[in-house]
Amino acid sequence: MKLLLLLFVSINVVFASQDWNAFKEKYHKVYKNSKEENYRKQIFLKNLKVIEEHNKKYTQGLSTYTIGVNKFADLTHEEIYSSSKSSTRREVTTVRSSPTPKFIPRDDVPESIDWRDYGVVTPISNQELCMSCWAFAVVATLEAHVGIYEGRNVSLSQQNLVDCVDPTFTCSQYLDIHALDNTYQYIVDNGGIDLRDSYPVEYYTVGSCRFKSETVGATIKAYGNITEGDEEELKAVVGTIGPVTVTITTDFSWDLYREGVYYNGDCMNTDEIFNHAVVVIGYGSEDGEDYWLVKNSWGTYFGQDGYIKMARNRDNNCGIASIARYPLI
Ligand SMILES: *[C@@H]1O[C@H](CO)[C@@H](O)[C@H](O)[C@H]1NC(C)=O
Ligand SMILES: *[C@@H]1O[C@H](CO)[C@@H](O)[C@H](O)[C@H]1NC(C)=O
Repeated sequence: MKLLLLLFVSINVVFASQDWNAFKEKYHKVYKNSKEENYRKQIFLKNLKVIEEHNKKYTQGLSTYTIGVNKFADLTHEEIYSSSKSSTRREVTTVRSSPTPKFIPRDDVPESIDWRDYGVVTPISNQELCMSCWAFAVVATLEAHVGIYEGRNVSLSQQNLVDCVDPTFTCSQYLDIHALDNTYQYIVDNGGIDLRDSYPVEYYTVGSCRFKSETVGATIKAYGNITEGDEEELKAVVGTIGPVTVTITTDFSWDLYREGVYYNGDCMNTDEIFNHAVVVIGYGSEDGEDYWLVKNSWGTYFGQDGYIKMARNRDNNCGIASIARYPLI
């Protein structure tokens, strides 16, 4: 019995080492020294256990999505989102958006839509470890609207926003609840946003503002608000106008999402709400679960080639319709 147990334990250790080596190879992981590697390995093995436990729940029908090893599996959730010290805190729930003044057609809202089918969704970007998700999300949204309303395929400059919207922004800063408003307002007031080719991304850094009006890539007249928490309005706008930038609350299970419709009953039970900004590029239903189709900016290693399906019509899960904004070209 003891021998069997020993055998079982050592087989597990061997498997874990194989998993670790396969992970390092697949994602080209290189560590400073063996101490660092050992530390990363412990996090990885912990995550591996969490993944196994979660996916067991999925096979028992207790969860609607699976998670799995991806590029981020040797990081903690806190590391992916930098230090949690300056995070957006709970009190932000008091923020109310004004009722949207403009006309939103609610007839003819399609039952499902995926703006990728219209050839207007630009490739997935990678923000690396700069907390500039808001800049990447607004750029991805605006690029799609330029495709829809102007028939152009542009690459716009995230760095323009990182450098110019808020002079006090740093890459380790948590998402500010006004970030989307400030960013869209900046693009309105500034007379547009630069092309990425003339204002390229400088990973991990914030520089001085170097916007040049000669190389402007897109302009907007104004931006629109979704009434806080109104998923029907979000559906109407995504279905009839175009993609929408949203802020959400995430945890490690979001970071390691693999497939299915992501629903997390615990995601608002945290101090750090609205820690990420992403783009809703569509919606639909799958196996009886309504979902939002969401574009992330962590490269194609994340989720399903960079995308995640998040629960829709389940009480505004993870705050997806809480702070939602879109450009008006
Ligand atoms: C959207 O709502 C925010 C938060 O209430 C507000 O500051 C902003 O002015 C609104 N913008 C528009 C275009 O309605
Ligand atoms: C737009 O251009 C990029 C870069 O050339 C290309 O990869 C992409 O497929 C084009 N189409 C869309 C919809 O992004």
